[in-house]
Formats: sequence, C-alpha cells, structure tokens
Amino acid sequence: MKKVFYNFLVIIAGIAIITSCGNKKPVDSTTKTIENLKAAIKGETTASAKYAAYAQKATEEGFAQIAVLFQATSKAEEIHAKNHMSVLTKLGGNMDAITPEFEVKTTKENLDDAIKGEKYEIATMYPEFLKAADEEKVTDATKSFNWAMDTEKKHADLYQKAIDALAANDLTKMVVEYFVCPTCGNTFETGIIDEKCGFCQTSKEKFISIK
Ligand SMILES: [Fe+2]
Ligand SMILES: [Fe+2]
Repeated sequence: MKKVFYNFLVIIAGIAIITSCGNKKPVDSTTKTIENLKAAIKGETTASAKYAAYAQKATEEGFAQIAVLFQATSKAEEIHAKNHMSVLTKLGGNMDAITPEFEVKTTKENLDDAIKGEKYEIATMYPEFLKAADEEKVTDATKSFNWAMDTEKKHADLYQKAIDALAANDLTKMVVEYFVCPTCGNTFETGIIDEKCGFCQTSKEKFISIK
C-alpha cells in the first residue's frame, strides 16, 4: 500500500513538473522588446517635440503649409509614443523621464533632417524591433510598431512633397489641413481621407483635424 502511495506521489510530481515546464515562459522572454519599446518611446517623444519646434520655425520663416505639416506629424509621433508606452506598462516595464535633444535649423534643413529620421525608422529601426517582437511573441508590440512604421512611410512621402515644393518655391500645391488618426497616428492630407483608418479601422469622424 505504501509503495502504491509512493508511486502515486511520483506520478503527481511528474505531472506538476511537466505542466510547469510547458506553461512557464522564461523570465527574460520579452527583454529585447522591452528595451526596444523604451528606445522607440524616446525616439517618438523626441520626434514629436522636434517637429513642434520645426513647425514654429516654419511659421517664423513664412512657410505656413510646412508648419501645419510639422504640427500634424508632431501629433502622430505623440500618439506612437503613447501606444508604445501602454505596451511597455503592460509588460511591467517603466521609463525614466526623457529630455528631447535636437537642433532647430532652417526649414529646408529641418525637412532634410525629418525625412532622414523617418527613413531610418522605416528601413532599420522598426524592422529590427518587429523581428524581435515576433520572436518574443509580443503581439501588442508588433501592432504598435507596425502602426508607427506604416505612418512613418506616409510622413516620409509628405516631407518629400514639402521638400519638392520648397525647392520649386511654390507651396500652393500643399494642403493647409491634415487629419491624424487618434488611435494609431495615421496621417492624411485633407481631400484624401479614407472612411476608416487603413491601419486600425478607426472611423474618420474620430480623426483629429490639424490646421
Ligand atoms: Fe513620423
Ligand atoms: Fe488609425
């Protein structure tokens, strides 16, 4: 009887070990993504502050159309930072205070800097962060990184349009109102707004007007 009881205990212990091994994630299973979220929050927060300052500079230089573009992209980056932050918080991570560091030059130089930043995020930063998030199976981070990267592609196109307009010394083809999706930061020129955000399906009635 004792032996039967002993065998029973061994079986129960075995099941417990197998179950715990199957369910338990290693403690560092989201390490890379947590660090990447922090870097992305810093990048997006800095971009948001920088674009707001670039908007101010464009106003001072008399480029109202470019000022409103920078205001719109500043809002979008703020939304990206907020989304990344909520994923970080959910994962139990936290951030130290950020002091954005950037330099304001002429509007032409500011546009060159802005497009360079967007291209880095599109070609290098977000693809690397997405790869790690996929490997670590952090689907919330994958969603937040994708929303940001897809928006940055649109920002790069909008900046190119502004660079071309400035080079041609003709800003009249640039719009004077943009719409920003409050959920994902997707950015639309007025006149070409989708019924629903193509990235997150938020309906256009909720879009934020920037003018
Ligand atoms: Fe952007
Ligand atoms: Fe959206």
